[in-house]
Amino acid sequence: MGRPATLALFGRKKRRGEKIVMLTAYDMTSALIAAAAGVDALLVGDSVGMVVLGYPDTLPVTVDQMVHHCAAVTRARPGVPVIADMPYGSFHVSTQETVRHAIRLVKEGGAMAVKVEGGRRRGEVIRALLDAEIPVMGHLGLTPQSVHKLGGFKVQGRGRGAADLILDEAAFLEEAGCFALVLECIPATLAERVTAALTIPTIGIGAGAGTDGQVLVFHDLLGLYDGVRPKFVKRYAELGAAAVTAVRAYADDVRAGRFPGLEHSFADEPAAAPAPRKRPPREPAADHGPDAPGYLAGLENGAGGEE
Ligand code: KIV
Repeated sequence: MGRPATLALFGRKKRRGEKIVMLTAYDMTSALIAAAAGVDALLVGDSVGMVVLGYPDTLPVTVDQMVHHCAAVTRARPGVPVIADMPYGSFHVSTQETVRHAIRLVKEGGAMAVKVEGGRRRGEVIRALLDAEIPVMGHLGLTPQSVHKLGGFKVQGRGRGAADLILDEAAFLEEAGCFALVLECIPATLAERVTAALTIPTIGIGAGAGTDGQVLVFHDLLGLYDGVRPKFVKRYAELGAAAVTAVRAYADDVRAGRFPGLEHSFADEPAAAPAPRKRPPREPAADHGPDAPGYLAGLENGAGGEE
């Protein structure tokens, strides 16, 4: 058995010059898929508000919702660190309230750490969380919870003054005790400078290739979300389109009386169960290969039936 997943992997990978692969997850299924694919860490991002809950931005997401989704991710036992976003409003009122909310994410959600957007102005909050034994990941650049203050989802840190501010804030977050730092939507050269200046790892999203790791949103990577398509997203699959094709085939089958077949139906007596109808062999599906998570193989083999 390998060593248990801890946040120490962040520092270790930076020291060894190994890239850190982080992905968001919002439920058991996404966590199992990400874990089977070998990601290093999972972020239960407040992007859940946009890609799962249908909000136009992340601002409406509540602590209850984050706890709910985080618990679903950690119940999957993905075997990698799970970090939970502190949603908008959960760390803006008082340090006492902040710590209470973060403790819920740890106790009820099973998170190992929390992520907080913002720089110097988060100093007190970060100190309070660390005092409560909760590790903190920082987040600079385009911080989506500041979308109205920033005037939209725009690249940050362009120009000398703005770049110097991000460098200064990054140094502050390291000094404050963050174990890693997300850099979102900033020029690649600035992200490289921040990465070189810090001993904690930087995780980029829209920050070029010079960071210590990358993070993407699960639904963006798989082509499951069309709401906003930032330039920095690489879609590795078009599962949304594939899902529409599959559901359309189901609807056509139901309407034509092709589904359910005898093999999907139950007889009065199990012994008298009808022999499955002969069908041509199926093409092996690319995503059900030997590395597919066990739960997918189980479903393929008909697990869940009662006969
Ligand atoms: O909410 C989120 O998914 C995030 C990542 C994009 C960094 O904060």
